[in-house]
Amino acid sequence: MLVQAYNLMAHGFLLFLLFSCIIPTNIHACKQTERSSLLSFASTLSSPSLNWTSIDCCRWKGITCDQPGWVTHLLLPSKGLKGGISPSSLGNLTHLTHLNLSHNSLYGSLETQFFLSLNRLEILDLSYNRLSGELPLSLPSSNIRTVDLSSNRFFGAIPSSFFQQARNLTSFNVSNNTFTGYVPSSICLHSSPSLRLLDFSSNVFSGYLAPGLGRCSKLQVFRASHNNLSGLLPEDIYNATKLEEISLPLNSLHGAISDRIANLTNLAILDLYFNHFGGELPPNLGKLSKLKLVTLDFNNLEGALPPSLMNCTNLVELRLGSNNLKGDISILDFSRLSQLTKLDLRNNNFTGTVPVSLYSCKSLKAIALGRNHLEGQIEVEILSLKSLSFLSLGYNRFTNLTGAMKILMSCKSLHALKLTGAFEGGGMPFDDDMVDFDGFQNLRLFSLGHCGLIGQIPVWLSKLKNLEILLLGSNQITGPIPSWLGTLPRLFYIGLSNNQISGEFPKQLCRLPRLIYERNIASQAEDQYEFELPVFSTINGANNLFLPQKLSSFPAMIDVSNNNISGYIPADIGQLRLLRKLVLDSNNFLGVIPDQISNLKNLEVLYLSMNHLSGIIPSSLMSLNFLREFNVSYNNLEGPIPIGTQLQSFNASAFEGNPKLCGAPLPNKCRPSKGIDAYNKSNKDVDNGLHQLPWFYIFVALGFIVGFWGVCGSLVINKTWRYVYFQFIDNLQDRLYVMIS
Ligand SMILES: *[C@@H]1O[C@H](CO)[C@@H](O)[C@H](O)[C@H]1NC(C)=O
Ligand SMILES: *[C@@H]1O[C@H](CO)[C@@H](O)[C@H](O)[C@H]1NC(C)=O
Ligand SMILES: *[C@@H]1O[C@H](CO)[C@@H](O)[C@H](O)[C@H]1NC(C)=O
Ligand SMILES: *[C@@H]1O[C@H](CO)[C@@H](O)[C@H](O)[C@H]1NC(C)=O
Ligand SMILES: *[C@@H]1O[C@H](CO)[C@@H](O)[C@H](O)[C@H]1NC(C)=O
Ligand SMILES: *[C@@H]1O[C@H](CO)[C@@H](O)[C@H](O)[C@H]1NC(C)=O
Ligand SMILES: *[C@@H]1O[C@H](CO)[C@@H](O)[C@H](O)[C@H]1NC(C)=O
Ligand SMILES: *[C@@H]1O[C@H](CO)[C@@H](O)[C@H](O)[C@H]1NC(C)=O
Ligand SMILES: *[C@@H]1O[C@H](CO)[C@@H](O)[C@H](O)[C@H]1NC(C)=O
Ligand SMILES: *[C@@H]1O[C@H](CO)[C@@H](O)[C@H](O)[C@H]1NC(C)=O
Ligand SMILES: *[C@@H]1O[C@H](CO)[C@@H](O)[C@H](O)[C@H]1NC(C)=O
Ligand SMILES: *[C@@H]1O[C@H](CO)[C@@H](O)[C@H](O)[C@H]1NC(C)=O
Repeated sequence: MLVQAYNLMAHGFLLFLLFSCIIPTNIHACKQTERSSLLSFASTLSSPSLNWTSIDCCRWKGITCDQPGWVTHLLLPSKGLKGGISPSSLGNLTHLTHLNLSHNSLYGSLETQFFLSLNRLEILDLSYNRLSGELPLSLPSSNIRTVDLSSNRFFGAIPSSFFQQARNLTSFNVSNNTFTGYVPSSICLHSSPSLRLLDFSSNVFSGYLAPGLGRCSKLQVFRASHNNLSGLLPEDIYNATKLEEISLPLNSLHGAISDRIANLTNLAILDLYFNHFGGELPPNLGKLSKLKLVTLDFNNLEGALPPSLMNCTNLVELRLGSNNLKGDISILDFSRLSQLTKLDLRNNNFTGTVPVSLYSCKSLKAIALGRNHLEGQIEVEILSLKSLSFLSLGYNRFTNLTGAMKILMSCKSLHALKLTGAFEGGGMPFDDDMVDFDGFQNLRLFSLGHCGLIGQIPVWLSKLKNLEILLLGSNQITGPIPSWLGTLPRLFYIGLSNNQISGEFPKQLCRLPRLIYERNIASQAEDQYEFELPVFSTINGANNLFLPQKLSSFPAMIDVSNNNISGYIPADIGQLRLLRKLVLDSNNFLGVIPDQISNLKNLEVLYLSMNHLSGIIPSSLMSLNFLREFNVSYNNLEGPIPIGTQLQSFNASAFEGNPKLCGAPLPNKCRPSKGIDAYNKSNKDVDNGLHQLPWFYIFVALGFIVGFWGVCGSLVINKTWRYVYFQFIDNLQDRLYVMIS
């Protein structure tokens, strides 16, 4: 009995506990209609399972309900959801205030029905999906505050009625879609006076920016970069005094930047690069004491830098490159810009010396002054810039290269040093001057082209174990390509063109580790290294909107064109599997094109023209699937151009000047008697193969006589070609050298 009584009491107690638990949760329990709407939404998703199984949908992952059991929040960002978004089911969640499905793989379009019923919606984040279609006629509710549809595939114009009821809209982001038509810049005139953030970037909006932003009295961020906008900046943008950021780069805007910009006292970011802005910089720009980022490069700005700019003590980045600015920069006092990390004044008409005051900007990581008319010497004070990683001084009239090198080699953090054309006269300091060389320890990019370098490639370069890009083109370098170049562990981009380098192509260069071994994962991450500023200062061609700043945007290259290199192209060259450009033209190379070149599976550019190469064009070259530029003109090649290969797609000019070469794309047909078979001996068996053997073997080899006559014969014939003046300008390479300043 007693046990039973206890049992009953225990049960009763448990029951009570149970009730006390259930009653409050029941209040939150979801309504059946809501549950079925959610399940209907989930059923349209293919993966993964949301595990929405329990009775009470208010306890499901991502769901929040209000007291009566209506679903108010549906938050499932980054859940790997895939499938079509289902307007009919989501549209039935009429009490929804927060909808966040960002970073999934949802597709489909937003139907009007879906929007209309969600009239309590406050936050809508559908960014980073694959949604498409046009926008519905209007935003769902007057309560809406945040709309993020960015990084989808929406298209079409934004309907003028879209914002009509959105009185409380504060943030609107549609960047990274393909919207067209006008940017709805009058958004604050009739609706949405509380807007703080507008992002229209990376779409195809075009036309003028209509006035109206001036009414956005709370607007802080306005972005419409990378569109097709034209016309002037709307005059009333200067009335939006809360603006902290104006980002309109990569458009076609023109006109001057008004001095009224000084009214925008909160402005921290003024990013207008790559437009057609003209006129002088606003004299009172410097009143904007909060300015951090001023990027106005690639415009048509004129005149001198306003002295007031030196009052912007919060400036972090000042980029004014590629304009028509002028004036003596040595009179500017940079000393108050203690936050400045990047200064880019390249490609202007500045004069004077490097301002001494610049050396007191201790945060500087990047200085780019190339392509101006600067003079004077590099002062030792530059060493006080401990973080200096990028220094570009090319194409100026500096003096004392030797002195500059001796100073700069102590710049411990220097990663990129571009001195091409920077100095007037004067050769290069040579080894005697730099015997105990121990500097440039972190240098990755070194360019010293167009500097009147005389003598051999200096040995101290062999100590630059981090060097990846070496450019010494257009000097007067003599002597051979040093074999130690092949031992530099990171080197993958070599430009030695337009010198007087002689000797043979060293086999050791065919052992460059970076061109042989695929990089492991850790090193690949390293390849993501970005220079502090774009490496090039000019843009050639409309396609090249984005200037390379990443190390990985440099293709693996060996360019020794326009020198006096003789001997064979070593068969070992086939080891450089990762090479993408091989430029050997305008030298004295002999022998055949080694078959092994077909091992260079990544090769995109192969220039062999204007040498004394003989033999056939190996048909194995057709396995070079990425080859897009090819030239073997003005050699002594013979036989048919391999048919049915990509070689046929190049112009005849790529083959001309080889009288014995025949077949498409050349006009002369191959004589049938001398068919392919007659030539179809593999190049690796002939001349260059011998070259790979030790010397004494050559003299005893059976093929000696054939080789001797082959080589000497072609030399005699080809001598004449050496004097055939041929204005061969390799577009790409030329572009590179001009730009690397
Ligand atoms: C699904 O939810 C139930 C309870 O709601 C839980 O026990 C189970 O572990 C969940 N399964 C997965 C795969 O998350
Ligand atoms: C949504 O509501 C409509 C009308 O009330 C109804 O016909 C439809 O079945 C509902 N859909 C779902 C998935 O519950
Ligand atoms: C949506 O969720 C993501 C991930 O939690 C979050 O970063 C984002 O801010 C949310 N969106 C809104 C508008 O709150
Ligand atoms: C806008 O928000 C305020 C509070 O922030 C609120 O009082 C007002 O009702 C909202 N207006 C509309 C149209 O929803
Ligand atoms: C808009 O969204 C994109 C992502 O799609 C993001 O990168 C950008 O920062 C957002 N804009 C603003 C102003 O927050
Ligand atoms: C643009 O959108 C695509 C597709 O959603 C995304 O993969 C990409 O990262 C976005 N780009 C930026 C800059 O946010
Ligand atoms: C950009 O705008 C111009 C007119 O301003 C127009 O002619 C051109 O087609 C537009 N380009 C694109 C890609 O929409
Ligand atoms: C900017 O604001 C001033 C004063 O508030 C006003 O007089 C002027 O008309 C406005 N300018 C524009 C272009 O709206
Ligand atoms: C903007 O600046 C102009 C002069 O540059 C001044 O007359 C005007 O009052 C300023 N407007 C505001 C709103 O500060
Ligand atoms: C820089 O600011 C100081 C005071 O902060 C002022 O006296 C000086 O005139 C300003 N210089 C320029 C060129 O605007
Ligand atoms: C520099 O000025 C000269 C004339 O003074 C002009 O011809 C030249 O185009 C200018 N260069 C640049 C880049 O503005
Ligand atoms: C070149 O620079 C070095 C180092 O700054 C200096 O010692 C030397 O005097 C300079 N030479 C000339 C000719 O100015």
